[in-house]
Amino acid sequence: MKNRVDNKLPIGFMDSGLGGISVLREAVRILPEENFIYYGDSKNAPYGEKSAEEIKALTFKAVEKLREIGIKALVVACNTATGAAISDLRTTYPDMPVIGIEPAVRPAVVCGHGGRILVMATPMTIKQRKFLDLLAKYQGEAEIVPVPCPGLMEFVEKGIFDGEVLKKYFDEHLADFLTENTESIVLGCTHYPFLESQIKEYLGNRNISLIDGSRGTSSELKRQLERAGLRKMGEEKGNVTILNSLEDEKMIELSYKLLKLPVGGGLK
Ligand code: DGL
Repeated sequence: MKNRVDNKLPIGFMDSGLGGISVLREAVRILPEENFIYYGDSKNAPYGEKSAEEIKALTFKAVEKLREIGIKALVVACNTATGAAISDLRTTYPDMPVIGIEPAVRPAVVCGHGGRILVMATPMTIKQRKFLDLLAKYQGEAEIVPVPCPGLMEFVEKGIFDGEVLKKYFDEHLADFLTENTESIVLGCTHYPFLESQIKEYLGNRNISLIDGSRGTSSELKRQLERAGLRKMGEEKGNVTILNSLEDEKMIELSYKLLKLPVGGGLK
């Protein structure tokens, strides 16, 4: 469907579920006057354990929904969907800026001191060409180790933030990767920033920093809107509409809770 791009339209965000809200949160902070519409595909989550073809088809379906409503720019707030679909999305929708997210390996290398960098991500992100190219680019500058985290996003989807339950998961999936010289962990799935305090608690007094791509992605969104003359100007604050393929009010409530906004999303 053809989207008539106009700077009063909202900015569309999509993710396989609630994770992209960690990126949206940052975008709302730096672009408070904009309107946003967020589509979480929780019904089809997790994307990270599907094939690249399936992920691409689901991503296009979600984007078409946003375009039917009308959006002026798209943020694919999902590392897994970005890896599978970003170049096809850009070719299909040349009429609007399309911004993706990838594991923040570059910032981790740039801010690092040559120690080991772990990249927690979905099994699919880690397998994709896009990620392998990213690794190849920086592998000479630091030891970068992918840590596949199947099922971790589901704790966020289910609203389970209990430290003890998560400790068991980290014992099984993270503990073996933690060495003396580990200096940072890249949160390479947009769901994981919502587990940041539980990961920090698990790491205890180890001096390991956590890095995610929400800030870089939101700044890129701002830059691209400016370049395309699509910023919504004025003092009036915008709002956030959240949609979810599960059509369950609880998912919408949890989404606004994660965003730290009242249900309905007024920014005033
Ligand atoms: N939030 C998604 C990401 O950034 C993936 C979660 C999933 O569906 O597996 O990769």
